[in-house]
Amino acid sequence: HKVIQTYRLQYHFMAPIGWINDPNGFIYHRGEYHLFYQYNPYNATANKIHWGHAKSKDLVHWKHLPVAMAPDQDYDADGVFSGSSMEKDGKLYVMYTGNSGNVQVQCIAISEDDITFEKVAENPVIEASTLPSNAQPQDFRDPKVIKRDNRYYVVTVSRTTENTGQVLLYQSEDLIEWEFKSILLQGTSAQGIMWECPDVFELDGKDVLILSAIQMPVVGDDYHNIDSVIAFVGTIDWDEGNFNVETMKELDHGMDFYATQTLLDDKGRRIAISWMNMWERSYPTAELNHGWAGAMTLPRILNLRNNYLVQTPIPEIANNYNLITTLSRRTLKNGKWAKKERTVISYVTSTHKLALNRKRSGVPITGAENPPVDQRQVTVPLENNKLSLQIFLDRSSVEIFANNGTETLTANIYPTEKSSDGIQFTVVGTAVINYLSFSKIVDKKS
Ligand code: FRU
Repeated sequence: HKVIQTYRLQYHFMAPIGWINDPNGFIYHRGEYHLFYQYNPYNATANKIHWGHAKSKDLVHWKHLPVAMAPDQDYDADGVFSGSSMEKDGKLYVMYTGNSGNVQVQCIAISEDDITFEKVAENPVIEASTLPSNAQPQDFRDPKVIKRDNRYYVVTVSRTTENTGQVLLYQSEDLIEWEFKSILLQGTSAQGIMWECPDVFELDGKDVLILSAIQMPVVGDDYHNIDSVIAFVGTIDWDEGNFNVETMKELDHGMDFYATQTLLDDKGRRIAISWMNMWERSYPTAELNHGWAGAMTLPRILNLRNNYLVQTPIPEIANNYNLITTLSRRTLKNGKWAKKERTVISYVTSTHKLALNRKRSGVPITGAENPPVDQRQVTVPLENNKLSLQIFLDRSSVEIFANNGTETLTANIYPTEKSSDGIQFTVVGTAVINYLSFSKIVDKKS
């Protein structure tokens, strides 16, 4: 098979060929970052899902490793679905969902060399029979395993008979024998028809639950994609197995951001990575005829500010770009757009709306989503009368970090013209560029 290079990213993680979706098993293990991912190595469609695997020392340069798991058992014949990893007795354990027929179950595989994985004889280690009575067995998936006070816990999602999402909590002493503990969080009908890919962790003294929701109803500028990532912050009572939610917020306001998963590294950083793409879209470019589809966002460090998550791009990325030019104290007055293909990032001072518009970005991207389909926006108040933006542009993606990661917008774009490689600043009224620096990636990732 051929992989057409046109839109291949330069500094984001991608599979060598074929389809990828969710990041899986993201872990810092024996001095290296490991990333697994939902993978169809045969073509650029979401079928025959395997676990792809790569590792890295800096989260920027990745070494591709052999496929970790294939759908080769009765219980995972229709896909080795999403999951996570955990180190135990020096070995790497992965926990994933076996998808087969109308049933989803949770399974374990173990590696001694961090390359080859053996599915254990006890699989499935959590069966649909353990589900609470309100759960539908065909939607029970995405185990995220964590360790607390020498006990293992796993959170999974399940769909209720009322078509809402819920997060289930199980516990174990050895990662093999699991006991159902509680429904950690019950979704309402205003929170989507199903949840996916839960991740739970402690951060700055609080508990955080990130999950991906299907068909969240639109609220103002939030949840305009068919699938959205939500971050809940609060406190978990691990004895009772319940979560007291204090805040809830959409994690990224762009068009292509889903299935977020995190790790904790040796520097104590909680780092998130997400699938930079979206279900229910039809891409006329990469997916259909370029031999590949899907990529990950930049890894982002998570912190709390005012009880909400903020995201900072990993500083390692700066070792890979060169400063090209800077600009300071430049006043801009009423200007015009050059009439070319363009991706527009705009800010309206009276409403504090920061928007990303890809209507004229290049090849149109279509598919099911809530209007407006070409634009996403989010409120970003000025800080000391200033707006700060960090913009990462790659061949077919854009990621915006506003006011130190208070808000982010992530999207795919497919420019077609040579003239798309410029940058233009235009204002209606007057604005001052306080400071601007422009850098270029130097080192094509391996
Ligand atoms: C989320 C998801 C998961 C599932 C996987 C299948 O994008 O639907 O819930 O495990 O993708 O590839």
